Order: sequence, then structure tokens, then C-alpha cells
Amino acid sequence: MYSAAEQKQLDQLGRTLLTASTPLDEQKAQQRVRQLGEVIRFHEYRYYVLHDPVISDFEYDQLYKQLEALEASYPSCRLDDSPTTRVSSDLTSDLPEVEHLTPMLSLDNSYNEEDLLDFDRQIRKLLAWGEDEPIAYAVEPKYDGGTITLVYEGDRLVRAATRGNGVKGEEITANARTIRSVPLKAAFSTVGIQRAELRGEAIIRKDNFHQINARREEQDLPLFANPRNAATGGLRMKDPREAAERGLEVFVYQLGFAEDGHGKDARAQFPTHQQSLDTLASLGFKVPVEERTVCQNIEDVVRFCEAWADKRDEYPYEIDGMVVKVNRRDLQERCGFTSHHPRWAIAFKFKARQATSKLIDVEYQVGKIGSITPVAKIEPVQLAGVTVSSISLHNEDFITGKDIRMGDTVLVERAGDVIPYIVKPLADLRDGSEQPIVFPTECPVCHTPLFREPDEAAWRCVNAECEAQIKQRMIFHVSKDAMDIDGLGRSQVERFYDLGWVKHIADLYKLDYAKIAHLDGFGQKSADNLRTAIDKARKNPIHRLLHSLSIHHLGKKASKLLAEEIGHVLELRDWDEERYLSIKDIGPIVAKNVMAFFAQPENIDLLKEMEALGVNLTQTEEDKPRVIDADAPLAGKTILFTGTLEQMGRKEAQELAERSGAKIISAVSGNLDILVVGAKAGSKLKKAQELGTVQILTEQEFITTVS
Ligand code: IVH
Repeated sequence: MYSAAEQKQLDQLGRTLLTASTPLDEQKAQQRVRQLGEVIRFHEYRYYVLHDPVISDFEYDQLYKQLEALEASYPSCRLDDSPTTRVSSDLTSDLPEVEHLTPMLSLDNSYNEEDLLDFDRQIRKLLAWGEDEPIAYAVEPKYDGGTITLVYEGDRLVRAATRGNGVKGEEITANARTIRSVPLKAAFSTVGIQRAELRGEAIIRKDNFHQINARREEQDLPLFANPRNAATGGLRMKDPREAAERGLEVFVYQLGFAEDGHGKDARAQFPTHQQSLDTLASLGFKVPVEERTVCQNIEDVVRFCEAWADKRDEYPYEIDGMVVKVNRRDLQERCGFTSHHPRWAIAFKFKARQATSKLIDVEYQVGKIGSITPVAKIEPVQLAGVTVSSISLHNEDFITGKDIRMGDTVLVERAGDVIPYIVKPLADLRDGSEQPIVFPTECPVCHTPLFREPDEAAWRCVNAECEAQIKQRMIFHVSKDAMDIDGLGRSQVERFYDLGWVKHIADLYKLDYAKIAHLDGFGQKSADNLRTAIDKARKNPIHRLLHSLSIHHLGKKASKLLAEEIGHVLELRDWDEERYLSIKDIGPIVAKNVMAFFAQPENIDLLKEMEALGVNLTQTEEDKPRVIDADAPLAGKTILFTGTLEQMGRKEAQELAERSGAKIISAVSGNLDILVVGAKAGSKLKKAQELGTVQILTEQEFITTVS
């Protein structure tokens, strides 16, 4: 439909228009309106037809708003085919078209409190209502999946369609029938409805999405960038069995059309949006329940939306905002529609999580065991409120697998608590100047040739004395997971290293605190605190010390297993492979790496030096195998904590439970014995209550039980 050159031109034009100043005369406005129209249509095609957008939703909205504003200021410039007069299209020729019973419009967008207050003012103006008159708003999540419409006639599902161009959609009944949350029969006749058209969103749960991608990875299939792509693709599968495998769900959010047996509008019996959704829920549809509310004023709407912006990551489905709707249907009718959206509803969009940027450089970082990590330097972009300019590219295969090139425009995503990542390069926007990324053949710091084990993804610098590695090993040594030295982190280690005070791990136990007290930002008190923290670390159990040595593949768990077996760390000098393998859960890879470490004289010298500096190398009580006392208060029980605990941290509570004989598990299931419920507990509590087999304890009850 668009040639590569046209795509590139339109994309570039769009980017220029995003920051262009407002035209000052009619002639310039006319030209701008035409340009914006072309650019927006192109992006709509990328989004709806190809399911492969090349700008973020936020940028698209900005372009759209610019066009709307210009058309409002210069009505004569509006073109007949302007995107603001027609909703965008996802029609392809593959699936049959069907006409919706009523046109499906879009939603207007808002991004902050001020926008919502404006919306409320606008509604009052449309209704000619004063400020004191109460207006109730229904508020619910804006699901980030694919729109679906469902038509029921005589209580049966007769048709399902995508949104299409808003007037006609693609027929996807066979696929919709595979979705278990879509009832094939629903008793509309009991509420006097003969024919109904419902609107909803087909989505995929986040956990299900991860499983789908894991399966695809095993089968060497391309991965989906996000649950939305997996859902919209699933709706339009040619083979319904494949659609069924996606595990789609449909949340219904609107009764779009309803008539009785005489062809009369049957929606009047639902005076509010809330009542129509409640009825749909009672007919067996999945509608937002706990996540939906009715607010009596716009200030409460703002609070509800902001609260959801904070908890969107915990919600099991992707949502990209909230939808605010005037609750009373008679008021909705009085507000009416524009050609693009209802005037009585608005989307409150959360901060954007995707953006595009340019890859300007790749740096190579050396890790504590010498692994080389390529890090992309991109032009800084705002992602969900954070500026991102540096993103890990993981390893060479990640770069070649995605065919990322220097100079590429890349799509960047920061989803929830996931660290930012590059979704893909936008290959269509290349102009030929992009260059392949050439992975180095030698360590960027010590210039030792790099080496890659056949079954590992990372290239490694094998020089254990490489300056970069030593520094990373010191940083890891002091970290929370290892020796856990309070007040000593990456920046302090780097600073002491740059001052020449620490050259390897043992030097951390020889620090001159008088000198530290004189450093900028330290002082006597911080220096004293640091001394206390380091003295405390000297007494650490040996499982922490073993873990802190950065032995390849020797993680926390394996370190604990080894510590249980030895009276003193240096005993490991005498261990052979068989001895390691006699421990359950220690495999040949760990055995090989620990043996290699203890075969190096410099490592033995390091440990001896540390011991001489007061670092404990002898097994402590905490290292000894835990004998579970059959009389312990929670012996043999499985336990899970949910919500916010008030008297102790989550980790502390888990340790206490373990010491009392319980095993921590991560999900509510038939295997769970006890759920400890803190403040603001959510779905886990509900699920446990539904199961009926789980003992539910408050935090205080838990403490009483174990003490
Ligand atoms: S109401 C006439 N409510 O957002 C207004 N839309 O442009 C119809 N969406 O793709 C929209 N969750 O599928 C509404 N709770 C919700 C929604 C929702 C998601 C989607 C809708 C469409 C887009 C609106």
C-alpha cells in the first residue's frame, strides 16, 4: 500500500510536525492540515492494518490533536477525508466484512488532571449545567487488546466482528466462539431484548502471554512484542483452533445496541451505564467489576484514575488507561457525538510505555566474570515518566536475532517493572546509512581476546586480573545478595578504586576510616557507620562469602549447599568432582567452576589474606543444615504472604515462617495451606477465599502463631 520510500517520508514528516510551530495564516494551515491527514492515515494503517506501529500512541495522539485544533481554528481547511471525520480502518481483504448495527467510534484522550477537569467543564457546558450540579461518572479500565463486537439474536451469539473502519468490521465469529468468556447463549429475552450488539476488548492475561512466548521460543517462532499484538492477531486467525490456543478473554464494556421484538430501542430500561453493565454481568458476560466504579464528581474520578495508574502493573491484564463515561444515559444522549468520539466519554491515558528513538552507539561492559554485555546508547526518550538513554542488548545473538543496526530507529518499551528493552528496529525507516554492529574480538578494557563457550550466549574476557572484572567483583562482593555491606555500594567502591585505595577484594577490609571521614560527602559519622558495617560483614556466615567470590555459576543456593558441608572454606581445596556431585542439586558445571577457582594459588592467597584481616572462613550456626523440628509451629505447611505487612518487611516475615518450619510458595493453589494477609490484599485473598481450603491469617495472627 505504501512504498518503503513513502513510509520513510511520512514517518519523517510526522516527526517534524510533532515539534513544528502552529501555522499563522490560512494558506499555511491548509498545507499543514493536508500533511497531518496523510501522516495520520499512514500511522493508522501501520497500527490497525499491519499491527505494527512505528510511532508511540502518545505521538500519534499529539498529531491527531494538532489536526483537530487546526480544523477547529480554520473550519474551511478541513478536508472531506480527514482522519477526524472517519475512524481508522483495520480492513484487509482476507476476512468477510460485516456492518455494525451502530457505528463504532473512538475515544477522545486525556493525560492529566487538568484534561479531566476540562472534560467535566465541557460536559457542563453541553448540558448547560452549573458548577454545583452533580454529574456521576462511571470509570473503568481501558483494556489494551483488540476491539470486538458481539451480536446476539434470540439469545444466541450470531456474529462477532472487529472494529474495522467503525462502520464495517471483519467477521470473526468462528474465532469468537472459541473464547470461553463469550457466552454462546445469553438470556437477553429475560430483559426484553431480541437483538443486541455488545462492545468489548479481547485481551490476553499477562501470565498467559509469557507462556505463549515461552512456547514460541521453544518452537523457534517469532515472539510477540506485547499481549495486544498476540490478542489482535489471535482474533483474526484463519484457523479457529489457533485462535483458541491464544487463551483470549473478552471484557465487555458497552451495550452498543439493543432492541426488543418490535424493533424498538430496548436500552431505556438501563438508566445508567452502570446498570447496563451489571445486567450484562448477570447474563454471563465478563465485565469489569472490582475495577469499575461510579464517582460522584470529577475530583473523585481523578483520584480513582491516579490510583489505577499506580497499580496497573499489579493488574493481571495490560491496561493503557481508564475510561471515564457520563453514567446517566439520558445525559449521554444530550451530550451527543462528534464524528470521531462520543462527547460523554474520555480515555485517561497512562504515561506512554513505548517510544521510538535512534541507536547512536553501542558500548561494551565487562561483568564480574568477564561476560561482555553490549549496551545501546540511544537518543534520550521519556518512557512512563523516566528518561531512558541506555539499554542492554544482552548479547551478540540478541543483536543478530533482531537485526539491530547502528543508526537504526528502534522501538523501545518499558513495561511495568520490566527493565527497558528494545522491541525491534524499524527496518522500514532505514535509509541505507545504517551499519551492522560489529562485536569486538578483544576485551575493551584489557584487550585479551574474547572467548565464547559453545553453549553460552556471552563472549567473555578470560583474564581474571582484568581491571574491569576486579572492579565488578568488588561491587558484587559488597552488594546485598553477597556480603551485604550497608553504606558501601557501586559508587563508593568506584570512588575508592579511583583514589587507588582498593585494588582487590581484600583491600575492602583495610580501609583507612580516618581518610574516609575527610572525603566530600562522608564525615566522621558515615565513616564510623561504614566501619561498623564492614566489621559486621567480617562475621558473615560462609555461604555469603562463597557467593561473594563471583565464581561462575555458583549462585546463592549452591553456596548454601556447599557451606552446609564444610567446616572451613579452604577445605574446598581438597575436594574432587565426585565429592561435589555427591551433593544433591550440585551439578558438574558448578563443580568444575568451584574446582577451577580453588586450583588458582592467587585465590587461595586472597582467602588467606581475608582471614588474616578478620573475615570469617569457618562454618557458622547459620550455615549448618536446618533440621526441621516436627514440633515447629508451622512444620510441613506451605505459606504465602499478600498485601502490605505493617509490623515487619515481607522478607523478614518469610524468614520467620521458614524458621518456623513452613515452606514459602508463590501462588494461591490447592497446595497452599496458609495465606497471611496484610493491608490492601487483592486477588490472592479472593482466590484463597474461593478455594475454601486455605487458612487465612492476619499479620498479628501469624506473629502469635510463630512466637
Ligand atoms: S468505550 C463509544 N470502554 O479503547 C466509546 N473503550 O477508542 C467506545 N477500550 O479500541 C469505547 N477499554 O476497544 C471503551 N472500558 C472501555 C474500553 C475501551 C478498551 C478500547 C476500545 C477502542 C478504544 C477506544
